[in-house]
Amino acid sequence: MNFGFGQSHAKAHLLGEHSVVYGYPAIIAPLLSLNCKAEVISSDQTLIETDNFSGTMYQLNYRFSGIYSLLTELLKFFQQPDLPFKLHIKSNVPSKKGLGSSAAYSVAITKAFFDFFDYQYSDEEVYNFSQIAENKNHGKSSGGDTYAVMADGPIFFDSSKDATILKLDTEAYIVIADSGTAGLTSQAVKLVADNYHRDPKKYGSYFKEMGAIAESGREEIIAGDLVDFGDLMTRNQKLLAQLGVSTPYLERLIKIAIKNGALGAKLTGGGLGGSIVALASDKETANQIKSALSQSGATGSWISKI
Ligand code: MEV
Repeated sequence: MNFGFGQSHAKAHLLGEHSVVYGYPAIIAPLLSLNCKAEVISSDQTLIETDNFSGTMYQLNYRFSGIYSLLTELLKFFQQPDLPFKLHIKSNVPSKKGLGSSAAYSVAITKAFFDFFDYQYSDEEVYNFSQIAENKNHGKSSGGDTYAVMADGPIFFDSSKDATILKLDTEAYIVIADSGTAGLTSQAVKLVADNYHRDPKKYGSYFKEMGAIAESGREEIIAGDLVDFGDLMTRNQKLLAQLGVSTPYLERLIKIAIKNGALGAKLTGGGLGGSIVALASDKETANQIKSALSQSGATGSWISKI
């Protein structure tokens, strides 16, 4: 019996979501404690199982057409389009919360199938296959999420769709808080696209400014200047609000994070709900921010060292 395993994790955008879809850079951190594991085994009948789905390929196509397309292409690539298999996915990455759950699924599944077929893969191949699902899920995907859910450090994802790991010499933590409201990336990306097409000059200038912020963010990380990096996060948030993807509750959580010692805070991912990310220079402050956010109604919160 053949067996394949693949794993990935969550991510948080520190700078540059949305503008990254328009070719500008982004800085994205992995969240290693939230992960997604996929196992594939040979079977005489196809069955796909996740925490909220159990069914055949046919049924999968109705609920999760991105994953369906990915599986179809993977089987075609290995010239076994009709091969039956059992795929089991276990993930503790909250979905629709701006934390990259769909990319985490795609990457874990792709790696599991590569392993199943004993295929020596490159990151680029994992990326290319995973993007089949991501592009279908989000309408238009930058690809940044896919790189970040594979990376083991914060990445600078540039306009040529290349990712470099940023080395940080200073100790730094991020606090993630889930607002408890779903934020569908495809909806947020569409809203921003509609706004952009209505007023390309105005929204184009926001994207450009966000791109410049991400460029400066890379310099601040390299220099280890967390105070300036935090300011950039807060400036980025103001632009995300101008794009129309913030909500009053996200704004409230951001304010609470800053009041409790965060050097900067913003929504993370698509927005319209989902999560916020706050920056802290030490563990004690991170804990304080985390508990203040929980007390204010955040339904989940995590601390990650970056
Ligand atoms: C979603 O996690 C990030 C967005 O920038 C979309 C993308 O990069 O594809 C909103």
